[in-house]
Amino acid sequence: MIQINNLWKSFDGNQVLRGINLNIIQGETMVIIGQSGCGKSVLLKHIIGLLKPDHGSINVFNEEITKLSDKNLYKIQKRFGMLFQSAALFDSLTIAENVGFFLYEHSDLNNDEIMKIVNKNLHMVGLHNIESLYPASLSGGMKKRVALARAISTNPDVILYDEPTTGIDPIMAAIINNLIIRMQKELKVTSIAVTHDMTSAYKIADRIAMLYQGKIIEIGTPEEIKQTQNETVKQFILGNAEGPIYSKFEDNI
Ligand SMILES: Nc1ncnc2c1ncn2[C@@H]1O[C@H](COP(=O)(O)OP(=O)(O)OP(=O)(O)O)[C@@H](O)[C@H]1O
Ligand SMILES: [Mg+2]
Repeated sequence: MIQINNLWKSFDGNQVLRGINLNIIQGETMVIIGQSGCGKSVLLKHIIGLLKPDHGSINVFNEEITKLSDKNLYKIQKRFGMLFQSAALFDSLTIAENVGFFLYEHSDLNNDEIMKIVNKNLHMVGLHNIESLYPASLSGGMKKRVALARAISTNPDVILYDEPTTGIDPIMAAIINNLIIRMQKELKVTSIAVTHDMTSAYKIADRIAMLYQGKIIEIGTPEEIKQTQNETVKQFILGNAEGPIYSKFEDNI
């Protein structure tokens, strides 16, 4: 469904992606793990066409998206749901208007029909009676759940989740994990989730890929990743302070 070949990206001399190769199979949940700042969000933004690569190809639904006009790219983007790391809600819109945003803009549904979907999706993420509030009055975790309710509002074919459980308490994180699994099982969506929460990764992933120094250094099922022989992957998944991963922080203490 999605094929990424030899993807390179730098920002002002900061070489972030250095030849990413990754295939996502229809219906699977792929989890991308890696250290803070390694380029996980940058990779997701390439998959949805928000960033253009310096080099390489990204094939989505049999279209080479790096070469599409804005209009044709938009047709592809409409089939995606995206949960941004920062939630990215519209501050001047109510919660209901945020969740229903894409439906108000791009569907023929009337207000009552949209409000039904809005209520159902907010209920799914465990939020009630907040439809008329504004994002400023919500906690960080609540904002993330509203953004998730918005991401699933258009019944997308692919959902990209950027840190879906970060900043959320463990019980709500478990609910979000279950929701991601349910979306896959019931609606057959293909999902790509970026996280450094290994509990969540093991729970939701069909396959896990680790991004390190701009490349995918290992990919496998959760069981395969748990039994990895790669010392870098091992250090990351076990959260060990010592190992091959270079830590700038430790150099300073
Ligand atoms: N638009 C941009 N302009 C310039 N540099 C950028 C831009 N977006 C990302 N970067 C840089 O790319 C690198 C990777 O950033 P990215 O946000 O992908 O990290 P990440 O793996 O998602 O980290 P985290 O786990 O903290 O969210 C960082 O060094 C960041 O400063
Ligand atoms: Mg990120």
